[in-house]
Amino acid sequence: MHTAALSLGTVKLGRATGVKYPTPVRIPDDQQAAALLAHAASLGINLLDTAPAYGESEIRLGRLLQGQRDQWLICTKVGEEFDGRNSTHNFTPEHCRYSITRSLERLQTDYLDIALIHSDGADLHILNHCGTLDMLIKLKQEGLVRAVGISHKSVEGAELALTKGADVIMATLNQDEQQDRQVIAKAAQAGCGVMIKKALRSGHGNAADLTWVAAQPGVHTIVVGTTNPAHLTANAACINQA
Ligand SMILES: NC(=O)c1ccc[n+]([C@@H]2O[C@H](COP(=O)([O-])OP(=O)(O)OC[C@H]3O[C@@H](n4cnc5c(N)ncnc54)[C@H](OP(=O)(O)O)[C@@H]3O)[C@@H](O)[C@H]2O)c1
Repeated sequence: MHTAALSLGTVKLGRATGVKYPTPVRIPDDQQAAALLAHAASLGINLLDTAPAYGESEIRLGRLLQGQRDQWLICTKVGEEFDGRNSTHNFTPEHCRYSITRSLERLQTDYLDIALIHSDGADLHILNHCGTLDMLIKLKQEGLVRAVGISHKSVEGAELALTKGADVIMATLNQDEQQDRQVIAKAAQAGCGVMIKKALRSGHGNAADLTWVAAQPGVHTIVVGTTNPAHLTANAACINQA
């Protein structure tokens, strides 16, 4: 399935604390969340980005996507855990396997389209010493995951991931944070998928910012989270225009 230019982030389906949004998070109920997903699908959006660190997000998606799994690409992550109050990190291969198995159960599926390392910032240490990416590649060979990579926090991390077999990177890009621009273009040229996070600076930007990000070379899909259907419509319109 070809990834649409806009993807839906699902932090706000499951986590309301320890996040940096400008306004307090009101988690939608199941009816509102189902309507949001249906609206996203009607706009051509086909990739959902989730993570164990997004609280109830995976479990809720598993419930909400019953009967429509084959219409969606699902990206989840490993390495960041959320206990309802705080995040902790674990990048060991054992935890990676455990986390992917748990994500499959929570999402009620037998494969993940994309699994990314949810970096805490120590990209080089994780990639050189933790064995997390090697384990993700093993899980890909076992058929549990279709593409693997990293949601990195440094250019060096993204560069290294490209040499170590990453299929996808999740890069930060907005008009205030442009440090990943070159590695984004390089990754795309090398055939690596490029997902963008923070295009709206976690809600401090507006839909027009998406036009700029969408026009940057190498960007395959921009992940934007929203629980507001009107924002979703506006974001899709901006990206289609770009
Ligand atoms: N380390 C990581 O891997 C990492 C880190 C950050 C993000 N991510 C992923 O990347 C996605 C994007 O991250 P993000 O930091 O940009 O934030 P985000 O979690 O997607 O949140 C976007 C914010 O922008 C608001 N918004 C969306 N469309 C809008 C519009 N048209 N006008 C005004 N406000 C709008 C949303 O509020 P409303 O609900 O009110 O629309 C929300 O508060 C996340 O959802 C997540 O999937 C990954």
